Amino acid sequence: MKKADRISRLGTETAFLVSQEAGLWAEKGNKVYPFHLGDIDLSTPQNIIDATEKAIKEGKTGYCPNAGIPQLRKALAEDINKSHGMDYSAKNVVIQPGGKPVIQKFILALMNPGDEVLYPNPGYPIYESQIEFNGGVCVPYSYKEGENGFLLDLEGLENSITDKTRILIFNDFQNPMAAEASQEELEKIAEIAKKHDLYVLCDEAYFEVRYSGRSKSLAAIDGMKERSVILYTFAKKFAMTGWRLGAAIAPEEIAAVIAKLNTNDESCSNHFTQYGALEALTGDQSAPKKILGILKERRDTAVEILNSIEGIKCFKPETTFYLFANVGKLMANMGITEYDELRKKILHETGVSFCTRLHFGKALPGEKEKYIRFAYSGISVEEIKEGLTVLKNFIEG
Ligand SMILES: Cc1ncc(COP(=O)(O)O)c(C=O)c1O
Repeated sequence: MKKADRISRLGTETAFLVSQEAGLWAEKGNKVYPFHLGDIDLSTPQNIIDATEKAIKEGKTGYCPNAGIPQLRKALAEDINKSHGMDYSAKNVVIQPGGKPVIQKFILALMNPGDEVLYPNPGYPIYESQIEFNGGVCVPYSYKEGENGFLLDLEGLENSITDKTRILIFNDFQNPMAAEASQEELEKIAEIAKKHDLYVLCDEAYFEVRYSGRSKSLAAIDGMKERSVILYTFAKKFAMTGWRLGAAIAPEEIAAVIAKLNTNDESCSNHFTQYGALEALTGDQSAPKKILGILKERRDTAVEILNSIEGIKCFKPETTFYLFANVGKLMANMGITEYDELRKKILHETGVSFCTRLHFGKALPGEKEKYIRFAYSGISVEEIKEGLTVLKNFIEG
């Protein structure tokens, strides 16, 4: 069968392939320590489950409005206003089946074929896939190591702008690097976006996965609201990855286009789960707080052991549930140059499974440092201790 030409341009999220490989290795009777996928092994808070069950029993099982139930749109606008210091209304909120669909809908709404799109690399691989699939031109920008974390290469970003650049995809806080922009960096990015008249996707999937301090948004900076679409998800903070519920928060004109895309794609997001999401936003907040506490303990444990291993170095980020560890020295010590060789060797010798830099975009010309990503959202503190100690013994033994 001859497939449509565009299919050759469709990428994927290769972390799922690593997950499959680890699963096969475990099926053969081997111990696996899953650091590969940003999924959460904790249950969704009970009050959210109860509210959803109640909605099913009350018959919320038919279609609902394509942009979502009005109560949830209003509650989410209020929640974002509180956390961001902004003034959205329900009309700005379009409920989605997950945060991920916002990426393609933003691109469909605002990008013409041939437009150049700035996106982070290393970054969430779906950006590259959706830009190319929809006929855009991928223009990567990157990060470099600072003293306490990764810093955006602002100069590189601005130098890549041409008269064809129309869109900037900005992921703060960043997967896979857990990079977090400072207020000064946010203001500089806003200045660039305004100067070059760019539309911005603010992917804030990890906005509320924060262990200390307060999250700040690019969209909240003066003059940015009218050119920004925020990607929101219920997946991470409330341990609801499989529920598939998120939202686009956009200027009214763009929100209306995204709602029309909803009608074309899925009619509406799942009706009764939206009542669970409403409870997540407006109900008791002790369970999400507990989830953050658990993740913080995992982070502390993983960072301490990883930094004690010869040849591995990682920062201690205050956001996301990822550690992007520099393994340049380790690879040199082991005489390994290829990422996949390192990944497979460590999986087979120790059971520790992770993604490498190459799962987050094509390597950039001249890139020297080597990184692997540890996700600690799907593995207990005990297993983190055990797995990383096995890794340490293998490397240093
Ligand atoms: C940066 C980033 N954006 C968006 C998403 C999509 O989230 P969701 O599961 O809500 O579709 C993810 C998921 O891992 C992510 O890492």
